[in-house]
Amino acid sequence: MTDISALKTELTSEIQAANDLKALDDVRVTVLGKKGRITGLMKTLGQMSPEERKTKGQALNVLKDEIAETIRAQESALKKKEMAARLATETIDITLSPRQQRVGKIHPISPTMEELVTIFGAMGFSVAEGPDIEDDWHNFTALNFPPGHPAREMQDTFFLPEDPEELEEFRKKLLRTHTSSVQIRHMKENEPPFKIVCFGRTYRSDFDMTHTPMFHQMECLYVAKDVTMAHLKGCLTDFVRAFFGIDDLPVQFRPSFFPFVEPGAEVDIGYYKQGDGIKLGKAKDPADQKWMEILGSGMVHPTVLENCGIDPNEYQGFAFGAGIERMTMLKYGIPDLRTFFESDVRWLEHYGFDPLQRPNSATK
Ligand code: PHE
Repeated sequence: MTDISALKTELTSEIQAANDLKALDDVRVTVLGKKGRITGLMKTLGQMSPEERKTKGQALNVLKDEIAETIRAQESALKKKEMAARLATETIDITLSPRQQRVGKIHPISPTMEELVTIFGAMGFSVAEGPDIEDDWHNFTALNFPPGHPAREMQDTFFLPEDPEELEEFRKKLLRTHTSSVQIRHMKENEPPFKIVCFGRTYRSDFDMTHTPMFHQMECLYVAKDVTMAHLKGCLTDFVRAFFGIDDLPVQFRPSFFPFVEPGAEVDIGYYKQGDGIKLGKAKDPADQKWMEILGSGMVHPTVLENCGIDPNEYQGFAFGAGIERMTMLKYGIPDLRTFFESDVRWLEHYGFDPLQRPNSATK
């Protein structure tokens, strides 16, 4: 019997040492095969006395079952191990390469405004804001368009239904016609010097090829003790050259009237004809140089400063305002203003900007 238990220990450790299925099968053959060790011992039973055969026979059968079980257990452990190894090494890529997704586009007005913030930010201007629903005073009266002034005709707007308790003209609520109202708010609420730029929606009751009832404006205001028209010219020239990316873009100032500036000037940039189209920039032959108006500017009118509680004998400044759609159309070659607001996805697909690849002077 001690032989059997010694054999059991020996065979068990042999089985457990088999570290792959092939080695395990080899052990199985040497133990349980036709010429195996247990099979061999079974064969010796025939030569034993009936007594001995009975006890030895039983013990050998138990051993045989136990060993067969140990082999099965080892086999399943090895199979598990093998499967784990295969799972770790065999990988199948079940992913599909991405299908062309419809990614939204950013409306071109937004990158233009961001680029303007970058340009004016670099010149030391900060962004100011004001409401779209204004009152008559901030939009007209304070800007030196008194009630009944004919210049109001140039900027006809949408008035909100009147509150019978607020009949005075200057309290009437309207949709602002220009961002110049933000200048007034800023000057009333802050102490000079001011160096601000503001952006936003503006409204006029116009609708034709080149006018939409809502559009965007940008306005710049610089008020300090020693600001002159030379600063206005320098700032504007730098700004349009940076925005259009043309270092020698010709700029011209033409006298013009706006009630809130004195003197006032319209600003033109140079272009020339090229093939069927036009190109911004300096014409080779001065005779081919053409001009287009892009914005209004001037030195802030003393009355406007006074209306905001600023002494015009101490302070002076410049202001200018531009239409953002116009700037965008010129920069990106968009032919029709009205298309900006038609919400046609094909237009947006064509003229819009990839959310992650937006042009910006800061990244150039
Ligand atoms: N607010 C003017 C407009 O909308 C533009 C302007 C701004 C002109 C500042 C001069 C100075 O037409």
